[in-house]
Parts: sequence; structure tokens; C-alpha cells
Amino acid sequence: MSKLIIDVDTGVDDAQAIMMALAAPGVEILGITCCHGNTPLQNVLKNTLRVLKVCNRLDIPVYRGCGEPLLACKRNAGDYHGKDGLGDSPDPDAPGLDLLNGRNAVKAMIKMVKENPGEVTLVATGPLTNLAVAVQLAPNFHEKLKALYIMGGNTESRGNTSVCGEFNFVADTEAAYIVLDRYTCPTYIATWEFSCRSSLPWSFCDTWLAQDTEKAAFMKKISNLSMMRARSADYQKESTAGKGFNSCDTYAMAAAIDNTIITESEEVAVTVELEGTHTRGMMVVDYMEMLKKKHKVTIMKTVDLEKFKNLLMNALK
Ligand code: RIB
Ligand code: CA
Repeated sequence: MSKLIIDVDTGVDDAQAIMMALAAPGVEILGITCCHGNTPLQNVLKNTLRVLKVCNRLDIPVYRGCGEPLLACKRNAGDYHGKDGLGDSPDPDAPGLDLLNGRNAVKAMIKMVKENPGEVTLVATGPLTNLAVAVQLAPNFHEKLKALYIMGGNTESRGNTSVCGEFNFVADTEAAYIVLDRYTCPTYIATWEFSCRSSLPWSFCDTWLAQDTEKAAFMKKISNLSMMRARSADYQKESTAGKGFNSCDTYAMAAAIDNTIITESEEVAVTVELEGTHTRGMMVVDYMEMLKKKHKVTIMKTVDLEKFKNLLMNALK
């Protein structure tokens, strides 16, 4: 049984990643910790509960984490995910925040890992603020982790939020720097370019959403806005998102569920640029080993798309 903690900024692709994990056999979600990001924290909390409700898994604890980045100016991605972060398709019967677990997310994360030393896989699909605070509060926290999977960063300086910045690493650049500097557990990164290269045909997306299930109907509703945007000609032209359905967060989640899904990867030391006029938030890949960093991360290069499609299809069954 894999034990997961998922740290999210629930938005649409975070929702897809959570639903993928919930549908995966042999995966136990110990808890979901929420962070600012795609939308303000209040919405992230509401959206995460909505996802658990449609999956009949409101038994999974949801924790309130950091509502602000460590230092960066706060930003959201409402133009893509919707003002509410979930496609601006409100549910009048959405679960209330009274269902949240009262423990602070960072303290909960530390407690769950301490109680399951060496067994917890942490999947981070949003800005890394909670993870950065965790390692400040409990310096050896990362040593107790089985593995860390991150959706974030880039390898070819391609940005989706700034010229050279991917959203999660731009939304809290200092947190991304701290995590990639301090965590020495096995770390796997699904970068922006990797997700673009691994995008799926829109025809698959249509089949995926056409499943005759409540989960598919929910996904169709919450993803309508972002899909319209992603399929628009100008987005395809202006963005580096590739010519297809790019569910960024699910690539990190799929690898955490079944690491064999990653068919090609590379081990290399990385850091994050804090200062550059154009490059703040960019992930720096140290192929020349000039940074003399002992710890290397595993950067995903290619994925078994058939296995990936299966995990996605099961997420909405
Ligand atoms: O750059 C894409 C990432 O930023 C995804 O995690 C998306 O949900 C946003 O958080
Ligand atoms: Ca996310």
C-alpha cells in the first residue's frame, strides 16, 4: 500500500490529480494539505472538499495551510482555472469549511510523516510554501519521507506565467528554492516542458469526459472554462503548452502512483533563480556540476502514455 500526502492548490488539474489517486488501487491518501496558488486559499479548501464529495471520500482529512507565499507577491491563475479555481461552476450543495480538519496543514504534514517514517510519498502540485515551512519547523522532516514528487519548474527556461517561470515556482520562488535546497529524499520532478511534451490529443479528452459517470459530469463542468481556453487558437499559439490536453499535476501524481510510468528520466542537481529580471523562478539545471550539490533530483523526460491514459480514465469511472 502506498501512503500519500497530497499538497495542492486545487485548481482543475489538482482536482484531476486527486481523483487519479483516489481511483488507484493500493494507494492510501493520509491527508490533503492546501496552499495558496491557482486561487486564494479559501477557494482551494472549498474546491478540495468538492472533489472529495463527488468521490464520496470526505473521510480524507483536508488541512488549511499557507495562504501567502513566503516573500513573493501573491498571485493566482484565475484566467485559466476560473475565479473560484474550479471553472467558475459553483455547487449550491458544496460541502462547508466546517468539514476541514482543525490542525494546521504544516503541523499535520509533519505529524503524519513522523507517524509513518520512511513510508510517506509526498506529492506537491502547487506552490511549495507548506513544504518550505515544514522543513523550517522540523529540519529532518524530509529525511523521513519515502519520496517527493513535484509538478513544477522547467528545464528549458520555458515559462507559462513569466517569460522563464512556471506558475508553482513563480508563485513562491523562495519556497521552491528552499525545498530543492533542503530536501534530500528521492525527488522526482514533472516540469512544465515535460507536461507539454506529454500532452494528450483532444480526442482522448473528449472520450475521457464522455464517460457516463457522475465524476465525468463533474469534471466536464469544472474543466469547461480551462479547456475552452486551452483549445483556443491564441492559447495554442501564444503558450508553450503544446498542441493538446495538458493536465500538468496528473503527471506528477501518475509517477507517484506507478513510477514505471516514467520511461525516461535524468538525475541532475538543480536550484531556483531568485534574482533575475527575466529569470526569477526559473529552475536552474546544473549539468556541469558547478554547484557541487550532492543531492540530485530525477527529472521526468518521457512517460508511457497508454499507462497514463488508463490512470486518467479510471479517475472518472
Ligand atoms: O504550471 C502549472 C502548475 O501551476 C499546476 O500545478 C497548476 O495547477 C498550477 O498550480
Ligand atoms: Ca496545481
